[in-house]
Amino acid sequence: MKFFVDTADIDDIKDLASTGLLDGVTTNPSLIKKSGKEFIPLIKEICKLVDGPVSAEVAATDYATMRKEAEVLRKIADHVAVKVPLTPDGLKVCKELSDDGTMVNVTLCFSPSQAILAAKAGAAFVSPFVGRLDDISQDGLSLISDIVRIYENYDYFKTEVLVASVRNPLHIVESAKMGAHVATCPPDVIRSLYKHPLTDKGLAAFVEDWKKTGQSIL
Ligand code: G3P
Repeated sequence: MKFFVDTADIDDIKDLASTGLLDGVTTNPSLIKKSGKEFIPLIKEICKLVDGPVSAEVAATDYATMRKEAEVLRKIADHVAVKVPLTPDGLKVCKELSDDGTMVNVTLCFSPSQAILAAKAGAAFVSPFVGRLDDISQDGLSLISDIVRIYENYDYFKTEVLVASVRNPLHIVESAKMGAHVATCPPDVIRSLYKHPLTDKGLAAFVEDWKKTGQSIL
């Protein structure tokens, strides 16, 4: 499973990239607002830090303006994935860019039928939002399961399932069991994956016992 970090915070991206376990970055207009930075220079900076796909989202909602914005975004770097909303206009932009060899991430997916359309439009990624479904008492993970199963039925669907709106480690683990290709996660959720109290307890005991041997490896 690939891990993308869902943030526009440069320090977090640098920190997680240094682990060697980070495969890409996703941003959205809300994350750009939170960063307080200029969008285009920020995406350029992120693209220098991470070799994998960097999602940059269009701001418009109409076809003509989205198409023009996408031209600007895809010129930033070859590994920019242009992010478009799952709307008729968004998917029209997706189809044209994908036919032209540009990676597209179709965002705001909340149903299997929408995910089928994204795949037919040639999206490199579809982003189903698990957390936001859970928030309204719908089962976000069952959407992931449905999309993975549907895509498996069609070899010619090349779209990767990018689990988005991740809130906790279980969203990642359960999505991995289902065979989702990618999870995009807030930085602290990625960091939480390392944690287990028995790891901490076991390590403390090993450190203490090693001290008592009086030995040194170096
Ligand atoms: O970037 C899309 C998605 O991951 C947003 O997550 O937490 O705002 O629902 P959230």
